[in-house]
Amino acid sequence: MALYMKAAEILEKAERKQGALKTLVYDSKFSNIKQLFALVCETQKYSSILEEIIESTRLLKLTKLKMPLAKVLVYDLLLGQGLKCGGSWKAVMIKHRSRLQAKLARMKVKQKVSKNEDLLPANVQQPAGDQLPRYVRVNTLKTTVEDAVDYLKRDGFTYLGQAARLEDFTLKGKVFVRDLHLPELLVFSHKTDFHDHFLYKAGHIILQDKASCLPAYLLNPPPGSQVIDACAAPGNKTSHLAAIMKNKGRLFAFDLDAKRLATMSTLLLRAGVTCQQLANQDFLKVDPDSPQYKDVEFILLDPSCSGSGMVCLRDNTSADQEKEQARLASLASFQLRCLNHGLRFPRLKRLVYSTCSVHRQENEDVVAACLQQNPNFRLVPLLAQWPERGLEPLSQCLRASTTKTRTHGFFVALLEKHREAGNVKQEAVVQISEQEETPDHPPACEIKPAASEEESEASEMEDTLTPEAGQTDSTPSKKKRRKRKKKKKKAATAE
Ligand SMILES: C[S@@+](CC[C@H](N)C(=O)[O-])C[C@H]1O[C@@H](n2cnc3c(N)ncnc32)[C@H](O)[C@@H]1O
Repeated sequence: MALYMKAAEILEKAERKQGALKTLVYDSKFSNIKQLFALVCETQKYSSILEEIIESTRLLKLTKLKMPLAKVLVYDLLLGQGLKCGGSWKAVMIKHRSRLQAKLARMKVKQKVSKNEDLLPANVQQPAGDQLPRYVRVNTLKTTVEDAVDYLKRDGFTYLGQAARLEDFTLKGKVFVRDLHLPELLVFSHKTDFHDHFLYKAGHIILQDKASCLPAYLLNPPPGSQVIDACAAPGNKTSHLAAIMKNKGRLFAFDLDAKRLATMSTLLLRAGVTCQQLANQDFLKVDPDSPQYKDVEFILLDPSCSGSGMVCLRDNTSADQEKEQARLASLASFQLRCLNHGLRFPRLKRLVYSTCSVHRQENEDVVAACLQQNPNFRLVPLLAQWPERGLEPLSQCLRASTTKTRTHGFFVALLEKHREAGNVKQEAVVQISEQEETPDHPPACEIKPAASEEESEASEMEDTLTPEAGQTDSTPSKKKRRKRKKKKKKAATAE
């Protein structure tokens, strides 16, 4: 019931313009932010339809419910998960279920549509382009692409060979193709569900968005190498790295969130990963000079971000711009600190940086600021054939989007060391605020509330939910920072 009450409270506040949905959800301190966010977003999306159902069935009068809570309950009963919880309200709602269902059915008949989604006003409906294909990464630790394709063919799927262009991803029914950029990726219609499939359950395939496969693929650490996955949970990129390394070498994986690490453990076990060393640790506190990491040559850094690239997270409500900007600045500052920290590992050769954000502030700006501060590193030009580039002048990097790459929004940069740090003069230009603050709860995303806790889905979504960096003791309090700044100022004047 707490979930429904909290969702109703947020919808009410949003209606009274007390904040943007996203911010209200993050500020709610609810235990399952992800589930709450999904429920609030979906209820809001169907708001006008729910209102019509509630009014025409006189639900408020008959039940004494208030409109926001009624909307949440009717949403979940008719369009969502079917009221998995709800306490005494559940019984009340079940009593009215058939009348509510009948009204919904009448609305569909009247509008001559068969799907609930088709009832939505055109500006709220997901454009066709937003229905991303189902991407399946073949886990080469357990099988080969050829064997997976054969298995699927025997299971009634039709294989059309390798795609030649993105248009080939417009698939219907049980038809699939091999991706045109990533050799271990198979592409299916967006309706294909593999959660109960043997290949998925046995860890032979991983459900992962195409863009999210780019970082490990581009970092490409050879078998036998020492690699760090800095912000690793729930671990789809870690398992991809392990597959590229053929489980040979050492893969250090850090994450701040113990719960997500536990999920990650299960996922890695299922995927047959054995070269990992997991640590529930703040990456910013990992000592680059520790003998343990002296041979680390490759780092994958996929830190918490705004998640603005996730299709399900797109917030059409008018956000509180000021708060949103502050949140982005805080995230960018955290991302830059992680990036700078990663480059301090003495034997580092290459570091791949990625986010599922579409904001320049978290992407090109972070990378540009980092390169200014670390002139011994440079960008590696990535995949010439990839259709979407980083914003100028960082065209060596890649971007991804629903329209140009048929994926979630994403950004990837690959940095390589091109000379040893030594007498290179450090440039002091930093466009990103140097506040040593880590972000507040970044968003999580999931389309359906109370969706299965399948870890693959979570990481496929590049789940960005975390109790987070901002709360760790590695982050000095504002007071401390002010003190430190004052001290610095004093020292400077003394000089
Ligand atoms: C975008 S998610 C990573 C997704 C993951 N790379 C994957 O592909 O499955 C960001 C992760 O960073 C973790 N995180 C945030 N701050 C961190 C820090 N200071 N040190 C380590 N992990 C951190 C969060 O808990 C979250 O799990």
